[in-house]
Amino acid sequence: MLDFKNIAAQVLNEHIESMSIEEINDNFEVPKYSHMGDLAFPCFKLAKIFRKAPKMIAEELAEKLNKGENFEKISAEGGYVNFTISKAILAKEILVKIKTEKDEFGSSNLGNDKTTIVEFSSTNIAKPFHIGHIRSTMIGNSLYRIYKFLGYDAVAINHLGDYGTQFGKLIVAFKLWGDKETIENDPIPELLKLYVKFHEEAEINPKLDEEARMWFNKLENNDNEAYELWKWIRDESLEEFNRVYKMLGVHFDSFAGESFYSDKMPAVLEEMRSKNIMKKDQGAEIVDLSEHDMPPALITKQDGSSLYITRDLAAAFYRKKHYDFYKNIYVVGSQQHLHFQQWFKIIELMDHEWAKDCIHVEFGTISLEEGSLSTRKGKIIFLEDVLNKATEQTLNIINEKNPNLENKNEVAKDVGVGAVVFQELSNNRIKDYTFSWEQTLSFEGETGPYVQYTHARACSVLKKADSKVELDVDFSLLNDERSVEVIRALNKFSEVIISAADKNEPSIITRYIVDLAQEFNRFYHDNPIITDDKELTKARVLLVDAVRQTIKNGLYLIGLKAPEKM
Ligand code: ARG
Repeated sequence: MLDFKNIAAQVLNEHIESMSIEEINDNFEVPKYSHMGDLAFPCFKLAKIFRKAPKMIAEELAEKLNKGENFEKISAEGGYVNFTISKAILAKEILVKIKTEKDEFGSSNLGNDKTTIVEFSSTNIAKPFHIGHIRSTMIGNSLYRIYKFLGYDAVAINHLGDYGTQFGKLIVAFKLWGDKETIENDPIPELLKLYVKFHEEAEINPKLDEEARMWFNKLENNDNEAYELWKWIRDESLEEFNRVYKMLGVHFDSFAGESFYSDKMPAVLEEMRSKNIMKKDQGAEIVDLSEHDMPPALITKQDGSSLYITRDLAAAFYRKKHYDFYKNIYVVGSQQHLHFQQWFKIIELMDHEWAKDCIHVEFGTISLEEGSLSTRKGKIIFLEDVLNKATEQTLNIINEKNPNLENKNEVAKDVGVGAVVFQELSNNRIKDYTFSWEQTLSFEGETGPYVQYTHARACSVLKKADSKVELDVDFSLLNDERSVEVIRALNKFSEVIISAADKNEPSIITRYIVDLAQEFNRFYHDNPIITDDKELTKARVLLVDAVRQTIKNGLYLIGLKAPEKM
């Protein structure tokens, strides 16, 4: 495909000597509104060199630049020079590209196989996989897919919370009140019950806490009984988690959780001691971070046992050594902001330049509309229940609207689960949001079902047209406003993915596919696809197919399936 960006950069470069074509290339943005064109070049950085206001620079450049045959318009808008690509050329380039690249459309080798770790989900063993976990799980899953798509060697890690004093508590509780069979029948809720009971009993009998500490200590020292019990709890929990991951279509390359680093901590602690990073504080070891406006970080407890942060430090060192990452991304809620800033700083203080490559991708909280979710087990809403309920409700809708649909159950799952995931990835990740059933399952508005339905509609149109999707079409027939807008939208896809990766923000893709679906539905409303004019039909069929493909690829990147019938 013609690289319009690069062509525009060359055109600009003739009049901007202070910037190389490559630099110019890197500066392009997508114009805010499509009527402004396809590429926007900001002139703000040029103000110093040209000693003029950006607005004026843009105007002068727009006047001088040579459009050539590829651009039909070059104009100034505020401090930007906007390029509008020639309609017929763009149509041909983009539609041929999509038809040729298919499921790969939008992908690239930008990442050059550089290793990017995306750590996400990282649920705690023996604790419920609740609705709140959808955030890290689906944001992370999407980022993992995005990085892979862009040619990074992405690694999906689940840093399971499978270590710490709470396992001491569980072991004690199990030995006192637990029953193996009961737990194996319904692991997480039963383990949760034990955990809750432990805390109630420990209020009355503080000795229990001591015993729990002792058992965790045994675990850290490879005591056989402690290890067997711990492993059993871990296996039972993982089995449950994996069921949810399967429903969500989420894959991990590694489940190296906190326990994995228990034997990797001493070396890091040694290095910290030898670099004088830590100081003793009443038998414990801390890192004083007051110079960096942070509270001290507790690294080892008085009894020598490790903490959450100790394991994070060890994990980062291990990952650097084992994967030699280019980026090491942590998809974890913003409540842990300080935790990550503290240990990133510690690695920096240890003089490891790769501290800067560790990135905390934060997100806000999810809350529930009071009472609308009725599945209350304790005070917890299991994610699996939400996904099942969404699937059930979707099946009801299908039974109402399209009872003869084949693979009804499969489609209900793809759409129901998809709806929940789509809503999750609709908002800027940092924003808090309230989960809403009504919004999630609506077929109208900016929802998963709406986008999937648009995709299915495109599939059904193509089926009806019953003509092969061909490339040798008369592209000038796609010059009506609606078609042009759709083509412009298709052309943005690659940029959108790159921008989503730059900002670690899957919602950029979610919003894009909503826009594309809306644009397509406007097109479809105004333009019959199957007409008496064979050439016109052929051109429109190609366009419909391109939209189908692009929505499918976009849905894939946010972790959704694209059923062909709904
Ligand atoms: N298991 C932790 C929790 O549920 C999240 C782990 C986040 N990742 C990390 N490397 N600290 O809070």
